[in-house]
Amino acid sequence: MNRSVVHIVGARPNFMKAAPVISAMAARGMDQQLIHTGQHYDPAMSDVFFRELGLPEPDRNLGIGSGSHAVQTAGIMLALEPVFAELTPSLVVVYGDVNSTTAASLVAAKMGIPIAHVEAGLRSFDDTMPEEINRKITDLLSELLFVTAPEGLENLRAVGAPESKIHFVGNPMIDTLLANLERFDPAGPRTSLDLDGAYAVATIHRPTNVDSRAAAQRTVKMLDGMARVIDVVLPLHPRGQRSLAEAGLRANERLRIIEPLGYLDFMSLVRGATVVVTDSGGIQEETTVLRIPCLTVRRNTERPITINHGTNRLIEPEDVAEAVASIVAGDWSAPSEPPPLWDGHAGERIADVIVRWLGEVAVTRSH
Ligand code: UD1
Repeated sequence: MNRSVVHIVGARPNFMKAAPVISAMAARGMDQQLIHTGQHYDPAMSDVFFRELGLPEPDRNLGIGSGSHAVQTAGIMLALEPVFAELTPSLVVVYGDVNSTTAASLVAAKMGIPIAHVEAGLRSFDDTMPEEINRKITDLLSELLFVTAPEGLENLRAVGAPESKIHFVGNPMIDTLLANLERFDPAGPRTSLDLDGAYAVATIHRPTNVDSRAAAQRTVKMLDGMARVIDVVLPLHPRGQRSLAEAGLRANERLRIIEPLGYLDFMSLVRGATVVVTDSGGIQEETTVLRIPCLTVRRNTERPITINHGTNRLIEPEDVAEAVASIVAGDWSAPSEPPPLWDGHAGERIADVIVRWLGEVAVTRSH
Protein backbone atom coordinates (compact mmCIF):
# COMPACT_ATOMS: atom_id res chain seq x y z
CA MET A 1 0.00 0.00 0.00
CA ASN A 2 1.35 3.42 -0.88
CA ARG A 3 0.76 6.53 1.20
CA SER A 4 -1.44 8.46 -1.17
CA VAL A 5 -4.69 10.06 -0.16
CA VAL A 6 -7.70 10.18 -2.47
CA HIS A 7 -10.34 12.89 -2.07
CA ILE A 8 -13.86 12.27 -3.37
CA VAL A 9 -16.07 15.17 -4.42
CA GLY A 10 -19.24 15.14 -6.45
CA ALA A 11 -21.79 17.78 -5.62
CA ARG A 12 -21.69 21.54 -5.22
CA PRO A 13 -21.35 21.75 -1.41
CA ASN A 14 -18.38 19.36 -1.45
CA PHE A 15 -16.13 21.75 -3.32
CA MET A 16 -15.95 24.48 -0.67
CA LYS A 17 -15.18 21.87 2.01
CA ALA A 18 -12.48 20.04 0.05
CA ALA A 19 -10.56 23.11 -1.18
CA PRO A 20 -8.89 24.07 2.14
CA VAL A 21 -8.08 20.45 3.02
CA ILE A 22 -6.46 19.79 -0.35
CA SER A 23 -4.51 23.01 -0.16
CA ALA A 24 -3.27 22.32 3.40
CA MET A 25 -2.22 18.82 2.39
CA ALA A 26 -0.41 20.18 -0.68
CA ALA A 27 1.43 22.61 1.60
CA ARG A 28 2.60 19.61 3.62
CA GLY A 29 3.90 17.92 0.47
CA MET A 30 1.44 15.04 0.58
CA ASP A 31 0.72 12.72 -2.28
CA GLN A 32 -2.95 13.20 -3.11
CA GLN A 33 -5.44 12.71 -5.91
CA LEU A 34 -8.84 14.20 -6.53
CA ILE A 35 -11.75 12.23 -7.95
CA HIS A 36 -14.95 13.94 -9.12
CA THR A 37 -17.87 11.55 -9.33
CA GLY A 38 -19.74 13.84 -11.73
CA GLN A 39 -22.88 13.88 -9.53
CA HIS A 40 -23.08 17.58 -10.40
CA TYR A 41 -22.02 18.30 -13.95
CA ASP A 42 -23.51 21.59 -15.17
CA PRO A 43 -20.72 24.17 -15.45
CA ALA A 44 -22.62 26.42 -13.02
CA MET A 45 -22.88 23.59 -10.47
CA SER A 46 -19.28 22.41 -10.73
CA ASP A 47 -16.62 23.93 -13.05
CA VAL A 48 -17.05 27.46 -11.78
CA PHE A 49 -16.29 26.31 -8.21
CA PHE A 50 -13.07 24.61 -9.31
CA ARG A 51 -11.94 27.79 -11.04
CA GLU A 52 -12.89 30.19 -8.27
CA LEU A 53 -11.63 28.10 -5.37
CA GLY A 54 -8.33 27.17 -7.02
CA LEU A 55 -9.14 23.46 -6.80
CA PRO A 56 -6.85 21.29 -8.89
CA GLU A 57 -8.29 19.67 -12.03
CA PRO A 58 -9.71 16.32 -10.90
CA ASP A 59 -7.38 13.41 -11.68
CA ARG A 60 -10.50 11.46 -12.70
CA ASN A 61 -14.06 12.44 -13.46
CA LEU A 62 -16.40 9.46 -13.28
CA GLY A 63 -19.14 11.34 -15.15
CA ILE A 64 -21.98 9.62 -13.30
CA GLY A 65 -24.56 12.41 -13.47
CA SER A 66 -28.14 12.33 -12.23
CA GLY A 67 -30.49 9.46 -11.48
CA SER A 68 -32.57 7.91 -8.73
CA HIS A 69 -30.71 7.38 -5.47
CA ALA A 70 -29.98 3.74 -6.28
CA VAL A 71 -28.93 4.47 -9.86
CA GLN A 72 -26.65 7.34 -8.85
CA THR A 73 -25.14 5.61 -5.80
CA ALA A 74 -24.62 2.31 -7.62
CA GLY A 75 -23.15 4.08 -10.65
CA ILE A 76 -20.56 5.81 -8.49
CA MET A 77 -19.75 2.55 -6.68
CA LEU A 78 -19.26 0.61 -9.91
CA ALA A 79 -17.02 3.28 -11.35
CA LEU A 80 -14.97 3.78 -8.19
CA GLU A 81 -14.10 0.18 -7.38
CA PRO A 82 -11.59 -0.30 -10.23
CA VAL A 83 -10.12 3.15 -9.57
CA PHE A 84 -9.47 2.33 -5.92
CA ALA A 85 -8.06 -1.05 -6.98
CA GLU A 86 -5.63 0.73 -9.28
CA LEU A 87 -4.65 3.57 -6.95
CA THR A 88 -4.56 1.53 -3.69
CA PRO A 89 -4.88 4.68 -1.55
CA SER A 90 -3.95 4.64 2.12
CA LEU A 91 -6.93 6.84 2.92
CA VAL A 92 -10.07 8.04 1.17
CA VAL A 93 -11.34 11.45 2.28
CA VAL A 94 -15.07 12.09 1.82
CA TYR A 95 -17.02 15.29 2.48
CA GLY A 96 -20.46 16.13 3.81
CA ASP A 97 -23.58 14.09 3.21
CA VAL A 98 -24.27 13.74 -0.50
CA ASN A 99 -24.73 10.48 -2.40
CA SER A 100 -21.13 10.61 -3.68
CA THR A 101 -19.93 10.60 -0.05
CA THR A 102 -21.77 7.42 0.87
CA ALA A 103 -21.08 5.61 -2.39
CA ALA A 104 -17.34 6.17 -1.98
CA SER A 105 -17.46 5.13 1.67
CA LEU A 106 -19.20 1.84 0.90
CA VAL A 107 -16.68 0.96 -1.80
CA ALA A 108 -13.65 1.92 0.31
CA ALA A 109 -14.91 0.09 3.39
CA LYS A 110 -15.50 -3.15 1.48
CA MET A 111 -11.99 -2.91 0.02
CA GLY A 112 -10.44 -2.38 3.44
CA ILE A 113 -9.38 1.20 2.65
CA PRO A 114 -9.69 3.54 5.66
CA ILE A 115 -12.04 6.52 5.31
CA ALA A 116 -11.85 10.04 6.71
CA HIS A 117 -15.19 11.84 6.93
CA VAL A 118 -15.05 15.63 6.88
CA GLU A 119 -18.19 17.02 8.56
CA ALA A 120 -18.84 13.96 10.72
CA GLY A 121 -21.44 13.74 13.47
CA LEU A 122 -24.10 16.09 12.12
CA ARG A 123 -27.63 14.75 12.62
CA SER A 124 -31.07 16.07 11.75
CA PHE A 125 -32.65 12.94 13.30
CA ASP A 126 -34.91 12.89 10.27
CA ASP A 127 -34.50 9.69 8.28
CA THR A 128 -36.80 10.95 5.54
CA MET A 129 -33.85 13.06 4.36
CA PRO A 130 -31.45 11.13 2.12
CA GLU A 131 -28.60 13.16 3.61
CA GLU A 132 -29.33 11.80 7.11
CA ILE A 133 -28.92 8.24 5.85
CA ASN A 134 -25.73 9.27 4.09
CA ARG A 135 -24.35 10.84 7.28
CA LYS A 136 -25.07 7.81 9.45
CA ILE A 137 -23.58 5.28 7.03
CA THR A 138 -20.48 7.35 6.35
CA ASP A 139 -19.78 7.99 10.03
CA LEU A 140 -20.23 4.33 10.85
CA LEU A 141 -17.65 3.29 8.26
CA SER A 142 -15.05 6.00 8.93
CA GLU A 143 -11.72 5.66 10.69
CA LEU A 144 -11.20 9.42 11.07
CA LEU A 145 -14.21 11.53 12.04
CA PHE A 146 -13.59 15.24 11.47
CA VAL A 147 -16.18 17.19 13.45
CA THR A 148 -17.19 20.75 12.59
CA ALA A 149 -19.40 21.66 15.57
CA PRO A 150 -19.56 20.51 19.22
CA GLU A 151 -22.92 18.79 18.83
CA GLY A 152 -21.22 16.45 16.36
CA LEU A 153 -19.09 15.18 19.25
CA GLU A 154 -22.18 14.36 21.30
CA ASN A 155 -23.89 12.66 18.39
CA LEU A 156 -20.89 10.47 17.64
CA ARG A 157 -20.40 9.54 21.31
CA ALA A 158 -24.10 8.67 21.55
CA VAL A 159 -23.65 6.02 18.87
CA GLY A 160 -20.50 4.65 20.50
CA ALA A 161 -17.85 6.04 18.16
CA PRO A 162 -14.45 5.56 19.85
CA GLU A 163 -12.77 8.76 21.07
CA SER A 164 -9.62 7.82 19.18
CA LYS A 165 -11.43 8.32 15.88
CA ILE A 166 -13.00 11.68 16.71
CA HIS A 167 -11.24 14.97 15.92
CA PHE A 168 -12.91 18.33 16.55
CA VAL A 169 -11.29 20.45 13.87
CA GLY A 170 -13.72 23.25 13.00
CA ASN A 171 -15.40 23.99 9.73
CA PRO A 172 -13.48 23.87 6.44
CA MET A 173 -16.36 25.49 4.53
CA ILE A 174 -15.82 28.50 6.77
CA ASP A 175 -12.09 28.40 5.91
CA THR A 176 -13.13 28.94 2.31
CA LEU A 177 -15.51 31.72 3.28
CA LEU A 178 -12.93 33.58 5.37
CA ALA A 179 -10.21 33.12 2.75
CA ASN A 180 -12.43 34.74 0.12
CA LEU A 181 -14.24 37.32 2.24
CA GLU A 182 -12.64 40.29 0.52
CA ARG A 183 -13.81 38.98 -2.86
CA PHE A 184 -17.50 39.07 -1.80
CA ASP A 185 -18.67 42.41 -3.15
CA PRO A 186 -22.43 43.04 -3.14
CA ALA A 187 -21.94 45.92 -5.61
CA GLY A 188 -21.55 43.39 -8.44
CA PRO A 189 -24.92 41.63 -8.07
CA ARG A 190 -26.61 44.92 -7.14
CA THR A 191 -25.59 46.35 -10.49
CA SER A 192 -26.20 43.27 -12.60
CA LEU A 193 -29.62 42.62 -11.02
CA ASP A 194 -30.57 46.26 -10.79
CA LEU A 195 -31.18 46.11 -7.02
CA ASP A 196 -31.23 49.52 -5.40
CA GLY A 197 -32.69 48.89 -1.95
CA ALA A 198 -32.91 46.10 0.61
CA TYR A 199 -33.30 42.63 -0.82
CA ALA A 200 -33.69 39.01 0.26
CA VAL A 201 -31.96 35.96 -1.21
CA ALA A 202 -33.90 32.71 -1.45
CA THR A 203 -32.58 29.24 -2.29
CA ILE A 204 -34.94 26.29 -2.33
CA HIS A 205 -34.09 22.82 -3.65
CA ARG A 206 -34.88 20.14 -1.07
CA PRO A 207 -37.19 17.38 -2.31
CA THR A 208 -39.61 18.21 0.54
CA ASN A 209 -39.97 21.77 -0.76
CA VAL A 210 -40.04 21.25 -4.51
CA ASP A 211 -40.71 17.68 -5.59
CA SER A 212 -44.45 17.15 -4.96
CA ARG A 213 -47.05 19.42 -6.47
CA ALA A 214 -48.38 20.40 -3.04
CA ALA A 215 -44.89 21.25 -1.75
CA ALA A 216 -44.04 23.25 -4.86
CA GLN A 217 -47.29 25.22 -4.53
CA ARG A 218 -46.49 26.04 -0.90
CA THR A 219 -43.04 27.20 -1.92
CA VAL A 220 -44.38 29.38 -4.75
CA LYS A 221 -46.87 30.97 -2.35
CA MET A 222 -44.07 31.63 0.11
CA LEU A 223 -41.89 33.32 -2.53
CA ASP A 224 -44.79 35.45 -3.76
CA GLY A 225 -45.51 36.48 -0.16
CA MET A 226 -41.87 37.45 0.41
CA ALA A 227 -41.82 39.51 -2.78
CA ARG A 228 -44.70 41.57 -1.41
CA VAL A 229 -42.43 42.61 1.47
CA ILE A 230 -39.01 42.98 -0.17
CA ASP A 231 -37.18 42.45 -3.48
CA VAL A 232 -36.28 38.77 -3.74
CA VAL A 233 -33.48 37.15 -5.72
CA LEU A 234 -33.90 33.42 -6.31
CA PRO A 235 -30.92 31.60 -7.87
CA LEU A 236 -32.78 28.46 -8.86
CA HIS A 237 -31.19 25.01 -8.49
CA PRO A 238 -31.98 22.81 -11.51
CA ARG A 239 -33.89 20.40 -9.29
CA GLY A 240 -36.76 22.81 -8.66
CA GLN A 241 -36.97 24.47 -12.04
CA ARG A 242 -39.71 22.43 -13.63
CA SER A 243 -41.85 21.65 -10.58
CA LEU A 244 -41.89 25.25 -9.35
CA ALA A 245 -42.74 26.56 -12.83
CA GLU A 246 -45.59 24.05 -13.03
CA ALA A 247 -46.79 25.22 -9.62
CA GLY A 248 -47.04 28.77 -10.97
CA LEU A 249 -43.67 30.33 -10.17
CA ARG A 250 -43.24 33.44 -12.30
CA ALA A 251 -40.63 36.15 -12.15
CA ASN A 252 -41.86 39.70 -11.62
CA GLU A 253 -40.33 43.04 -10.79
CA ARG A 254 -39.90 42.10 -7.11
CA LEU A 255 -38.98 38.45 -7.68
CA ARG A 256 -35.89 37.90 -9.81
CA ILE A 257 -35.38 34.29 -10.81
CA ILE A 258 -31.84 33.63 -11.97
CA GLU A 259 -29.62 30.68 -12.88
CA PRO A 260 -27.49 29.07 -10.12
CA LEU A 261 -24.51 31.29 -9.32
CA GLY A 262 -20.87 30.48 -8.83
CA TYR A 263 -19.36 30.73 -5.36
CA LEU A 264 -18.11 34.32 -5.49
CA ASP A 265 -21.25 35.76 -7.11
CA PHE A 266 -23.50 33.87 -4.72
CA MET A 267 -21.60 34.88 -1.59
CA SER A 268 -21.42 38.48 -2.82
CA LEU A 269 -25.19 38.43 -3.24
CA VAL A 270 -25.67 36.93 0.24
CA ARG A 271 -23.30 39.41 1.84
CA GLY A 272 -25.47 42.30 0.71
CA ALA A 273 -28.79 40.69 1.66
CA THR A 274 -31.06 41.83 4.47
CA VAL A 275 -32.28 38.27 4.99
CA VAL A 276 -31.73 34.83 3.48
CA VAL A 277 -34.48 32.24 3.15
CA THR A 278 -33.14 28.76 2.41
CA ASP A 279 -33.41 25.01 2.81
CA SER A 280 -29.68 24.47 2.25
CA GLY A 281 -27.37 23.11 4.93
CA GLY A 282 -24.24 25.10 4.19
CA ILE A 283 -25.96 28.46 3.82
CA GLN A 284 -27.15 28.20 7.43
CA GLU A 285 -23.47 28.13 8.41
CA GLU A 286 -22.30 30.82 6.00
CA THR A 287 -24.96 33.28 7.17
CA THR A 288 -23.99 32.56 10.78
CA VAL A 289 -20.46 33.79 10.11
CA LEU A 290 -21.58 36.70 7.92
CA ARG A 291 -24.13 37.59 10.64
CA ILE A 292 -27.02 37.74 8.21
CA PRO A 293 -30.48 36.65 9.38
CA CYS A 294 -31.34 33.22 7.98
CA LEU A 295 -34.80 31.63 7.87
CA THR A 296 -34.53 27.91 7.15
CA VAL A 297 -37.62 26.42 5.56
CA ARG A 298 -37.34 23.02 7.19
CA ARG A 299 -38.75 21.25 10.24
CA ASN A 300 -35.28 20.36 11.54
CA THR A 301 -31.62 21.07 11.01
CA GLU A 302 -28.48 18.97 11.34
CA ARG A 303 -26.76 22.24 12.18
CA PRO A 304 -28.39 23.37 15.47
CA ILE A 305 -25.31 25.43 16.28
CA THR A 306 -26.52 27.93 13.67
CA ILE A 307 -29.64 28.40 15.79
CA ASN A 308 -28.06 28.35 19.26
CA HIS A 309 -24.93 30.26 18.33
CA GLY A 310 -25.91 31.99 15.15
CA THR A 311 -28.51 33.79 13.19
CA ASN A 312 -30.70 30.94 12.02
CA ARG A 313 -34.35 30.07 12.68
CA LEU A 314 -36.46 27.16 11.42
CA ILE A 315 -39.72 28.23 9.85
CA GLU A 316 -42.81 27.01 8.00
CA PRO A 317 -43.33 28.50 4.51
CA GLU A 318 -46.58 30.17 5.65
CA ASP A 319 -44.71 32.19 8.30
CA VAL A 320 -41.87 33.45 6.11
CA ALA A 321 -43.38 36.71 4.80
CA GLU A 322 -44.20 37.93 8.31
CA ALA A 323 -40.76 36.97 9.64
CA VAL A 324 -39.07 38.75 6.72
CA ALA A 325 -41.14 41.87 7.44
CA SER A 326 -40.06 41.91 11.06
CA ILE A 327 -36.38 41.44 10.10
CA VAL A 328 -36.72 44.30 7.59
CA ALA A 329 -38.16 46.37 10.46
CA GLY A 330 -34.97 45.69 12.42
CA ASP A 331 -36.25 43.04 14.82
CA TRP A 332 -33.16 40.86 14.91
CA SER A 333 -29.81 40.75 16.70
CA ALA A 334 -26.54 39.20 15.59
CA PRO A 335 -24.38 37.00 17.80
CA SER A 336 -21.01 38.45 18.71
CA GLU A 337 -18.76 35.42 18.19
CA PRO A 338 -18.68 32.71 15.54
CA PRO A 339 -18.99 29.10 16.74
CA PRO A 340 -15.82 27.55 18.21
CA LEU A 341 -13.03 26.80 15.70
CA TRP A 342 -14.85 28.39 12.78
CA ASP A 343 -11.67 30.39 12.43
CA GLY A 344 -10.27 29.65 8.99
CA HIS A 345 -7.85 26.90 10.08
CA ALA A 346 -9.90 23.70 9.91
CA GLY A 347 -8.19 22.49 6.71
CA GLU A 348 -4.79 22.77 8.38
CA ARG A 349 -5.99 20.86 11.45
CA ILE A 350 -7.41 18.13 9.25
CA ALA A 351 -4.18 17.88 7.25
CA ASP A 352 -2.14 17.67 10.48
CA VAL A 353 -4.28 14.82 11.83
CA ILE A 354 -4.00 12.96 8.52
CA VAL A 355 -0.21 13.36 8.37
CA ARG A 356 0.08 12.04 11.94
CA TRP A 357 -2.34 9.21 11.29
CA LEU A 358 -0.52 8.09 8.12
CA GLY A 359 2.73 8.10 10.07
CA GLU A 360 1.25 5.94 12.83
CA VAL A 361 -0.21 3.49 10.30
CA ALA A 362 3.17 3.22 8.57
CA VAL A 363 4.89 2.46 11.90
CA THR A 364 2.26 -0.16 12.84
CA ARG A 365 2.61 -1.88 9.46
CA SER A 366 6.41 -1.98 9.67
CA HIS A 367 6.26 -3.96 12.95
C1 UD1 B 1 -27.57 17.13 -3.92
C2 UD1 B 1 -27.44 16.56 -2.52
C3 UD1 B 1 -27.95 17.60 -1.51
C4 UD1 B 1 -27.26 18.93 -1.69
C5 UD1 B 1 -27.38 19.38 -3.13
C6 UD1 B 1 -26.63 20.66 -3.37
C7 UD1 B 1 -27.77 14.12 -2.40
C8 UD1 B 1 -28.68 13.07 -1.95
N1 UD1 B 1 -28.26 15.37 -2.33
O1 UD1 B 1 -28.95 17.36 -4.18
O2 UD1 B 1 -27.68 17.11 -0.21
O3 UD1 B 1 -27.87 19.88 -0.84
O4 UD1 B 1 -26.84 18.34 -3.99
O5 UD1 B 1 -26.85 21.16 -4.64
O6 UD1 B 1 -26.65 13.86 -2.76
N2 UD1 B 1 -29.16 18.56 -11.90
C9 UD1 B 1 -28.79 19.27 -13.01
N3 UD1 B 1 -27.46 19.60 -13.17
C10 UD1 B 1 -26.51 19.23 -12.28
C11 UD1 B 1 -26.90 18.49 -11.16
C12 UD1 B 1 -28.21 18.17 -10.96
O7 UD1 B 1 -29.61 19.63 -13.86
O8 UD1 B 1 -25.32 19.56 -12.49
C13 UD1 B 1 -30.58 18.25 -11.70
C14 UD1 B 1 -31.01 16.94 -12.28
O9 UD1 B 1 -32.31 17.07 -12.73
C15 UD1 B 1 -31.01 16.02 -11.08
C16 UD1 B 1 -31.43 16.95 -9.97
O10 UD1 B 1 -30.86 18.20 -10.31
O11 UD1 B 1 -31.83 14.92 -11.23
C17 UD1 B 1 -30.97 16.53 -8.60
O12 UD1 B 1 -29.54 16.36 -8.57
P1 UD1 B 1 -28.91 15.37 -7.47
O13 UD1 B 1 -27.44 15.39 -7.55
O14 UD1 B 1 -29.58 14.04 -7.54
O15 UD1 B 1 -29.38 15.98 -6.12
P2 UD1 B 1 -29.49 17.50 -5.64
O16 UD1 B 1 -30.91 17.84 -5.51
O17 UD1 B 1 -28.60 18.38 -6.45
